[in-house]
Amino acid sequence: MPLLEVNNLRTVFHTNDGEVYAVNDLSFSLEKGETLGVVGESGSGKSQLVLSIINLLASNGRTEGSIRFQGQELVGMKPKEINRIRGDRIGMIFQDPMTCLNPYLTVERQMTEVLMLHQGLDRSTARQRSIEMLDAVHIPDAANRLKRYPHEFSGGMRQRVMIAMALLCQPDLLIADEPTTALDVTVQAQIIHLMNELQQEFGMSIIMITHDLGVIAGISDNVMVMYGGRICEYAPVFELFQNPRHPYTAGLLKSVPRLDLAGSTQLHSIPGNPPNLLHLPVGCAFADRCEKRMDICTREQPPLQEVSPDHFNACHLESKNV
Ligand SMILES: Nc1ncnc2c1ncn2[C@@H]1O[C@H](COP(=O)(O)OP(=O)(O)OP(=O)(O)O)[C@@H](O)[C@H]1O
Ligand SMILES: [Mg+2]
Repeated sequence: MPLLEVNNLRTVFHTNDGEVYAVNDLSFSLEKGETLGVVGESGSGKSQLVLSIINLLASNGRTEGSIRFQGQELVGMKPKEINRIRGDRIGMIFQDPMTCLNPYLTVERQMTEVLMLHQGLDRSTARQRSIEMLDAVHIPDAANRLKRYPHEFSGGMRQRVMIAMALLCQPDLLIADEPTTALDVTVQAQIIHLMNELQQEFGMSIIMITHDLGVIAGISDNVMVMYGGRICEYAPVFELFQNPRHPYTAGLLKSVPRLDLAGSTQLHSIPGNPPNLLHLPVGCAFADRCEKRMDICTREQPPLQEVSPDHFNACHLESKNV
C-alpha cells in the first residue's frame, strides 16, 4: 500500500467571479521513503495541492475526490481527526518560517508544547527531545538556543528550527513548500543535505515544491510537473531531465546549463500567460502557448499516459506518434 494515494483530486474555490479550479482531476501516489519533487510556474496549483492534502485550504475552498493516507481517507474527515494526523504523522514546512513559528514564544515553549500535546511527553522529556532535534538539524549550542525567540535566529537557522519542529513527531510524510527560496545558495545546499540525511535516518516520504532545479535534482526520486492544476508530466528525476516529453516541461528545462553544477538554477520562463482558472479551456490548458500545437489540442484534453516505464505524459503528440 502506498503511503499516500491521491485520486481524481479537485480543489475548487468559490469566489464572486465564479468557481476557481486550482487542482483538476489529479491522481498520483507516493511510496514510503520516496521524495516527490513538484514543479510548475506560479499559479499552477502546487501549494493548493499540498494544502488540500493537509486540509488547510482557505475557507472558500473545497476538495473533491480521494486522498488516502496510510489507507485512511482524508477527504471529508472531521477537522479534529485530521488535525491529529497533521500533528503526528504529516509535517509541513513553508517558505516563510514565520508562518509556523510564533514570534511571541520561545522556541522551547513552541517545541515542547507540540510534544506534550501530540505525544503526551512530560516537560523535561519534551525539552530533552527538542534539544536532540535542534542538534539533528545542526543548530549549534542547542540547549541555550532553545531559550531564544524566533527573531533571535538568522534566516537559515530559523528555517532549521522550522524543519526541527516539523520533524518533532517523526512524521511519515514531510511536505515542504519552497522551503529554501529565501535562503542563500550555501545555506540552501546545507538544508537539502540535511533533509536527505534526516530522510535516511527516519525513512519518511517527502513532497518538495520548488522553483529550483538544483534542489529538485538533489532530492527527488520522481518529479511531477504541474500546469493549470493538472499533471502534465511525471517521471523519475533522471529520466525527466534527460528526456522531457511534454513541450511545457521541455520549455521549463530549456537553457538550464548543467544540473550537476552547484548553485541555484531557476526554471526557464515560457512566453505567454498561465490559463484562466475561472474558465479552463476544453482542450489542453497549455495549447495556446505551445509551439507544437495541433488542431486536436484545443478540442480535447490529452490523457495522462504511461509512455515508458514510470514516465507519464499528457500530450496529444504521444497519440500522434503511435
Ligand atoms: N482562496 C482562494 N480563492 C480563490 N482562488 C485561490 C485561492 N487560493 C488560491 N487560489 C488560486 O489557486 C491557484 C493556484 O494557486 P497555488 O497557490 O496553488 O499556486 P502555486 O503553484 O503554489 O504558485 P506559486 O509558485 O506562486 O506559489 C492560483 O491561481 C490562485 O489564485
Ligand atoms: Mg505556492
